[in-house]
Amino acid sequence: MTVVRVTAPGRVNLIGDHTDYTGGLVLPMVLERRTVMEGTATGDGLVRVSSADESEPACFPIDIAEPESVEPGWARYVAGMVREMRLLGVMVDGFEAHVTTDLPIGSGLSSSAALEIAVGRFVRELVGSDSVDDVSMAVAAQRAEHRASGVPCGIMDQLCIAVGRSGSATSIDCHDLTFRHVPIPDSIEVDVRFVVHRKLVGSEYADRVADCRRIEEIVGPLRSARPADVDVLRDDRLRRRARHVVSENQRVRDAIDALGNGDVTELGRLMTESHHSLARDYETSTPVMDEAVERLLREPGVLGARMTGGGFGGCVVAIRHRG
Ligand code: GLA
Repeated sequence: MTVVRVTAPGRVNLIGDHTDYTGGLVLPMVLERRTVMEGTATGDGLVRVSSADESEPACFPIDIAEPESVEPGWARYVAGMVREMRLLGVMVDGFEAHVTTDLPIGSGLSSSAALEIAVGRFVRELVGSDSVDDVSMAVAAQRAEHRASGVPCGIMDQLCIAVGRSGSATSIDCHDLTFRHVPIPDSIEVDVRFVVHRKLVGSEYADRVADCRRIEEIVGPLRSARPADVDVLRDDRLRRRARHVVSENQRVRDAIDALGNGDVTELGRLMTESHHSLARDYETSTPVMDEAVERLLREPGVLGARMTGGGFGGCVVAIRHRG
């Protein structure tokens, strides 16, 4: 029996947070740490999946209609992705597989998106089909995530993981899903530090998405709004949320230019400014995350630091001069 083995990396976002779900710009990169899925086709109409990090394995029908009802809960991401891939025509008759990962779970490095993309790659390889391209797979994984977790996340994590290349950041336009690999200069290293566990399920993430919907009803698409457009917002909270999104999109453009020019000092400055905008205007940071950023900024050689990802905990990312 043919054993299939696939992997999918985690991601860290260098800059461009809380811009993806309004079709804005992001600049994440894939990590060396990754999730591995290994197994075989069975043909018995069932999915049997276990994980080195979970005490309970899961078993559910391959044609599962309600992935959000699968127990144990971790397997909902697997079930959600199996279902989405079937909807795209990738028909497997059943499989058993084991999952391992060296990504810390629930720490903001997209362990769930890595699991979804690993499942997508696994079933695609099981049937030997290339009918689902990487971008379509990422969109399927985003839908799987919505179903499995109920969190209305954007496309950044899944798309970065599906198309990212080691040694480069991936600049993504989350409106038309075009992307470009942007090499990270050898003169800097990217430092990711875990601060505190967090969960986006039940967090204020969905409230931020709702705020953006409300803003867009008033000023139109945030992805094309200019700073002056947000001044018309009367509500102070909405004005600050909008100011973050509009300024963050500009910072991503500037960060891509800075990388192109080899101006790592400017990249660092933009990253730190992004953190302050997230903390002050978007309110997705916490005192513990702020403190972790401040501590990093005091370290020798550090050019810039920020919280990364959904917020309310998780990891901070810094760039520093190599060595
Ligand atoms: C989480 C979501 C992403 C994105 C970030 C914030 O990681 O999954 O879609 O919204 O938060 O930038």
